[in-house]
Amino acid sequence: MKNRWILAAVAVLILTGVGVAHAMMPEPNPDKLWRYITHSSAYDTWGFWGDHEGLQPGGAPHGPYHKVYVNKRGLYSMNAPVQYGTLIVKENYGDAMGKDLKAVTVMYKVKGYNPEAGDWYWVKYSPKGVAEKYGRPQGCINCHASLVDNDYVMVHDFGGEDE
Ligand code: HEC
Repeated sequence: MKNRWILAAVAVLILTGVGVAHAMMPEPNPDKLWRYITHSSAYDTWGFWGDHEGLQPGGAPHGPYHKVYVNKRGLYSMNAPVQYGTLIVKENYGDAMGKDLKAVTVMYKVKGYNPEAGDWYWVKYSPKGVAEKYGRPQGCINCHASLVDNDYVMVHDFGGEDE
């Protein structure tokens, strides 16, 4: 009997914990999101996808080099579509040393934000965090939509139908 109470208490604690963690995710707002990814959960403490670690060469329109950081929700997502709350932050560099940061582009999976296009919230920030484009920019969506089966993600293959 005692054990049951302990189990119930643990379950309540876990559930409240999950609720709080969820409530802490930022709204789809460029300034709040920037504060979140630079303070509340600094993106440079996140991980990389195993098939895309550290500084990597890239192409237009994002520039010649980049790093793609992924939060835990994203890294735990084994299949497309990824879990809600996934954040992908891409640092875009002009040089091969990873010193000349040109822009920070973000994809944030927000339930109900844009169901027609994978529920992604998109932002392009200057290196200092000024949002230059955000929301549902057609440019971002149209190009990334070439990989709609991979949940609009370019650099990591979730392993879809052709496997
Ligand atoms: C013309 C095509 C194109 C457009 C437009 C585009 N992207 Fe991308 N994006 C790519 C490619 C290709 C990659 C793979 C990495 C690379 O080559 O830089 C990528 C990678 C990314 C990634 C890393 C996650 C992933 O999907 O691999 C993010 C985040 C991202 N883009 C955000 C944006 C945002 C925000 C915009 C709009 C402001 C945007 N992209 C517009 C082609 C595009």
